Amino acid sequence: MCGIVGYVGRSEAAPILLDGLRRLEYRGYDSAGVAIVDGDKVETRKCAGRIAELGKLMAERPPTGTFGISHTRWATHGKPTDQNAHPHFDATGRLALVHNGVIENYQALKDQLIRDGDRNFSSDTDTEVLAHLIGKLYDASMAVDPGSNGKTKASLPNKKGRLVEAVRTALRQVIGTYGIALVHQDIPDFIVGARRGSPLVLGVGKDENFLASDVSAIVAYTRDAVYLNDFDVVAVERDKFEISSVAGEAGNYQLSKVEFTDADIKKGDYPYYMLKEIFEQPGSVRDAMRGRLSHEECTAKLGGLNMSPAQLRDVGRVVLTGCGTALHAAMIGEYLIEQLAQIPTEVEYASEFRHRNTPMTRDTLVLAISQSGETADTLGALRESRRKGYRTLGICNNVASTIARESDGGVYMHAGPEIGVAATKSFTSQVAILTAIGLLLGRMRHLSTSEGTRIIDALEALPDQIEQVLKLSDQMKAIARKYASVNGMLFFGRQFNFPIALEAALKMKEITYLFAEGHPSAELKHGIIALVRPDLPSVFITPDDAVFSKNLNNIEQVRARKGPVIAITSGTGADRLAKIADDIVTIPAVPDYVSPILTVIPLQLLAYHLAVELGRDVDKPRNLAKSVTVE
Ligand code: G6P
Repeated sequence: MCGIVGYVGRSEAAPILLDGLRRLEYRGYDSAGVAIVDGDKVETRKCAGRIAELGKLMAERPPTGTFGISHTRWATHGKPTDQNAHPHFDATGRLALVHNGVIENYQALKDQLIRDGDRNFSSDTDTEVLAHLIGKLYDASMAVDPGSNGKTKASLPNKKGRLVEAVRTALRQVIGTYGIALVHQDIPDFIVGARRGSPLVLGVGKDENFLASDVSAIVAYTRDAVYLNDFDVVAVERDKFEISSVAGEAGNYQLSKVEFTDADIKKGDYPYYMLKEIFEQPGSVRDAMRGRLSHEECTAKLGGLNMSPAQLRDVGRVVLTGCGTALHAAMIGEYLIEQLAQIPTEVEYASEFRHRNTPMTRDTLVLAISQSGETADTLGALRESRRKGYRTLGICNNVASTIARESDGGVYMHAGPEIGVAATKSFTSQVAILTAIGLLLGRMRHLSTSEGTRIIDALEALPDQIEQVLKLSDQMKAIARKYASVNGMLFFGRQFNFPIALEAALKMKEITYLFAEGHPSAELKHGIIALVRPDLPSVFITPDDAVFSKNLNNIEQVRARKGPVIAITSGTGADRLAKIADDIVTIPAVPDYVSPILTVIPLQLLAYHLAVELGRDVDKPRNLAKSVTVE
């Protein structure tokens, strides 16, 4: 949420910053800006609207210079206007700062600055307050009379050191979250960055260095990265960098290799990232399973869990937590772990879980699920669980993300970068991994070798079956066209496919802006049936499984009230639905516990095609952002 890019090197900064922002646009896209220093003058361009608008502004009056900072915004404090777009400046206009996060005590800090005579605020943002505070502290340090405390001018820290110290002093006063980058026009070739709660990565190049919210912004230039920790402050120059803490201690760091390349984040021939990512699912599900299934032992091998067999056997309860799509994967995980391993499992909205006093037993294992690994609510739930002493695992896609680093162990999805705001491939990878976890825990308890083998076979068959399901894209497009004028859709499913009803409704809401609800099929008669009418289609996710005939009854109830029905089914389902469903979509027949990985795909495609039909911006739906680092 909000994207930051900083550059210091020998090339012109403007194209690098703009290119980086385009790659981070999924993090927010309501306004954008850059500040670039040329000689001893900081130039800024910023405006409300998409990065494309900023691009036009920069093309009209290109800012020159070889170091600078930039930002794409998802508004928290202050409307998305030109004034509120980042960068923000200190009172003298010499220091420019970009910020991702929320300064919770900004009003108190602003009041103090005003009391001290600083009234020169030009935006409604919390960020500007931080810029003023750092600027004021820096200027005060520069004004120190060398003789007054016995120090000579030479013994005082240089400008760079004083700016870093001003950043530290300001951040010690801040309550809230931040990923920041700042430049000062008096200090050439120098950027300061810092983080707490919002991600920041240092990209290490040859005679050039980068700062970014996410490596995708800089992977075209370097694959060597340092993932900064909370409370790190980094001073970045062309050919060196220094990491310390907000408290002033020297920091440790580790250089990592980014596991994907620039080619992986290109759209290729696809019109939207979402479609590309839907079509990547045969490979992403395969990669989620790669090297993790053992035919010999009929179980899953998940070394990253960092748990001994005894510890795994001792798990008496599982709590799964996440937000949005990840929460829906968690809900399938509940069915999976209870069915395969017979361990009591619960799902908690991360945002609720972290603030309530859930009774927990000592043998509870907490699994935090998050594509980005940065979602503030999920991270909060994870930290709260750790604070209380529970073992935590992360299921994340982004390598070295905060959730991945702060968990006791976990499983990476290896799905490759997911850029479309609406999550697709990360969902199927999460469900595949939860199946593997269910298998592993089950095999340590009652699950037989033959059952273990059946589950492995079912998982290994998925990539080819997903290929078949993707061939339904044209059919889903035709259905989307047929229903393009409806005002909403209802989604129903039972058991493993109830969370798919929720996920399908979420996809529909996110990218078409149509009203959509998902429910367990049987709940229909408890209220939702009042909504049924000829212009509101109901989508039933009803593979040919143990609850098929129950779903059939619910479909009849909708038909009796003239509600159109779209059915996603398998096996002999199509024959049995022929007379009562308006549209039938048939996927391969698979065991019920892996069926959600297939049933969700036509529904991702339905939302996608309908959004295109309605002229929506599929990859950047209104008001949304990926990687939600605010609470
Ligand atoms: C946002 C996105 C959703 C996503 C959720 C959780 O709300 O719009 O698509 O499912 O965050 O994201 P995470 O990165 O934690 O999986």
